[in-house]
Amino acid sequence: MPKKRVLSGMRPTGRLHLGHYFGALKNWISIQEEYDCFYMVADWHALTTDYADTDGLKNNSLEMVVDWLTVGIDPDKSVIFRQSDVPEHSELFLLLSMITPLGWLFRCPTYKEQLKEIQSKDLNNFGFLGYPVLQAADILLYKAQAVPVGEDQLAHLELTREIARRFNNFYGNVMVEPQALLTKSARVPGLDKRKMSKSYGNSILIAETEDEIVKKVKTMFTDPLRIKATDAGHPEGCVVFAFHEIFNNNSEKRKHECMQGCIGCAACKRELTAMICEFTKPMMQRRQDILSDKTAVENVLKNGCIKAREAAVQTMKEIRKAIKL
Ligand code: TRP
Repeated sequence: MPKKRVLSGMRPTGRLHLGHYFGALKNWISIQEEYDCFYMVADWHALTTDYADTDGLKNNSLEMVVDWLTVGIDPDKSVIFRQSDVPEHSELFLLLSMITPLGWLFRCPTYKEQLKEIQSKDLNNFGFLGYPVLQAADILLYKAQAVPVGEDQLAHLELTREIARRFNNFYGNVMVEPQALLTKSARVPGLDKRKMSKSYGNSILIAETEDEIVKKVKTMFTDPLRIKATDAGHPEGCVVFAFHEIFNNNSEKRKHECMQGCIGCAACKRELTAMICEFTKPMMQRRQDILSDKTAVENVLKNGCIKAREAAVQTMKEIRKAIKL
């Protein structure tokens, strides 16, 4: 039995943080043996919101690939490529746009939410509305059977499935309907308890210096009801505890120590700092090594492009034939 095909992507926002790692990358790494994985730098998707300022785009894409390699996405096992290197994505995007009803796009929860949330940019552009159609093209172009996504992306995957069905109804059975690969992942809060995000300035990078980690953990939001170290704590809702649940094998014990007022927040933070450093230190080293040979990183994308196009060109042939173009 051939391995099942997986495709997933990330918009290039530059260096990645612990939210990316525990929310997605850890899963991406663990499925590399079992699946035929395609991991894509979604730089066209970045343009849907950041079209006005593209200076950092190329470098952000490279930085993201460096971090993927750092954490263990392996170019010998998985195809690592950049969306804009494979023009077939844009052709399929165009063809799918013909059969996607506008109502599906206007109703998409991520569209409505982001239009409301992001006030700093004008998002009344066609590309932003069509974001999920481009994502559908990414997935259908590779006939991916599974897509590892977080819950925030489920609506896009559902739309992809609907577009695939509609295509197959019109033109015959070419598209493969992808399934969500909902692997267990941890929700990593930012230093201030909101979602960890570069734009909130509340993140800890995957490759972060020890000094930065010490500083950042000190600013972490803790239990506001706790004044003295001997007061009973409330680990639920405490950012430091949320991190202990990720990094500390004895987090249950810590929970009780906190609730009984046996350990103060400062000591609890010091331990956490050490645990995060233990995780990031080897990452720092590997990142340095990878960065020392930038051509090698560019070659990863070059080779990835060749492999991705091989699959994409084949699917596009079938699609053009089905549409009788
Ligand atoms: N929309 C995804 C995100 O914001 C990125 C993405 C683009 C993607 N194309 C994809 C994810 C295809 C999965 C499959 O995270």
